[in-house]
Amino acid sequence: MNETATLTLNNKAYPLSVIVGTESEKAVDIRNLRNDTGYVTYDEGFGNTGSCQSAVTFIDGEAGILRYRGYPIEQLAEHSSFIETAYLIINGELPTSPQRKRFSQLLTENSPIHSSMEHLFEGFPSDAHPMAILSAMLNSLGSYYPHLATNDHQRDLETYEATSAVIISKVRTIAAYSYRASRGLPYIHPRRDLPYCENFLHMMFSTPYEPYIALPEVAQALNLFLLLHADHEQNCSTSTVRMVASSGANLFASTAAGVCALWGPLHGGANMAVIEMLKSIHAEGDDGTKFIEQAKLGKADKRLMGFGHRVYKHYDPRAKIIKESFYSALASLGIKDDPLLNIAMRLEEAALRDDYFLARKLYPNVDFYSGLIMRAIGIPENMFTVMFAIGRMPGWIANWKEVAANPKGRIYRPCQIYVGANLRDYVPPHRRK
Ligand code: ACO
Repeated sequence: MNETATLTLNNKAYPLSVIVGTESEKAVDIRNLRNDTGYVTYDEGFGNTGSCQSAVTFIDGEAGILRYRGYPIEQLAEHSSFIETAYLIINGELPTSPQRKRFSQLLTENSPIHSSMEHLFEGFPSDAHPMAILSAMLNSLGSYYPHLATNDHQRDLETYEATSAVIISKVRTIAAYSYRASRGLPYIHPRRDLPYCENFLHMMFSTPYEPYIALPEVAQALNLFLLLHADHEQNCSTSTVRMVASSGANLFASTAAGVCALWGPLHGGANMAVIEMLKSIHAEGDDGTKFIEQAKLGKADKRLMGFGHRVYKHYDPRAKIIKESFYSALASLGIKDDPLLNIAMRLEEAALRDDYFLARKLYPNVDFYSGLIMRAIGIPENMFTVMFAIGRMPGWIANWKEVAANPKGRIYRPCQIYVGANLRDYVPPHRRK
């Protein structure tokens, strides 16, 4: 029998049906609540709100489970690559050999950016943040492909394969160019013979007179970093992408909005914030003990960055995987004694024993280690969130598609509880106090 919930308001009962997901997650369906009762629900931060039905990613935060399209993150991390996983997320199934080959070809063909686009980088101040450049460039990219960015979902869906390849491939080139522009360095063009991660590292670190050859462990650490960030259900940036998509906006505009949402320190900016926190602890001569005590006071500006998660109330499964790969990248790079790493280890150990963190189920999240990995690879701090954006692109693309392809889709338009002034008359300037 179908489960039903009953809501009683002013002595009147309203039956509400229950929706059950494929992993037995249950939701009370309130889509007709306002029409039927005149009431809306109140859920600031959307912690209890299912904003959509999605077939991309499953998370059980209590059990520390993360799956893309049904596949456990641990299996993908062990056997797959970022590009194969991106294909899985974007298209729903792991690629066959011909599909994988075709996707790689599309990525290779699309890796250069239009030469006139290169000049756009020069318009930014030399100290512009690469996230600002990335979001602006991603949006501009659509104007170079007007046939892929029509803002007619039907037409944009017909070109979905081409558009997703353009974005996945070019985001990497744009990211590397934004770094080089910010350093006043000449652009290094992509190479056709290099795989995705090696090509990115080449565009970042080669010079016109000396190619950068990535160590396999370093390329693998980057591959894993991107794979682990490829999607994460309805987080702040993905919800933003869906929100923008729901207005009919094209994939370029929607993912550019995702970049903006990702930038903040409580989301994608956390990996950078972790390193800043470790540096300031080090500069103050603290071994982490003092900082932990301050973090426990509950002040928003003294949080232990890289700890806690809205969904995971257990060790973030991505943090476990990235921690292991981190040590092998460190060994291959010959990094033995890094003071920031030592502080990070102490912080983790101390927090995992402390009642404050245990009671609130605050465990390390993926950002706790990903900043350290990026730093070891040589990625500058202001690029950390850009790296996250490259990784998250497949998830944003797949979520855009779900919105665009939903025949019953409506524009996202939450309600509010108005708590402002009541009706009052306009006051002319000379009578204002
Ligand atoms: N350090 C110290 N205390 C914390 C932390 C932290 N990192 N995170 C949460 N708390 C405390 C809060 O003060 C609160 O305490 P209280 O119950 O005494 O008031 C309690 O834990 C619950 O915190 P909320 O803010 O309600 O948790 P929420 O789910 O809203 O926030 C968030 C999750 C934003 C990730 C938070 O844990 C945080 O700010 N962490 C640090 C930033 C970070 O690492 N962000 C990356 C997230 S993962 C990602 O985007 C890939």
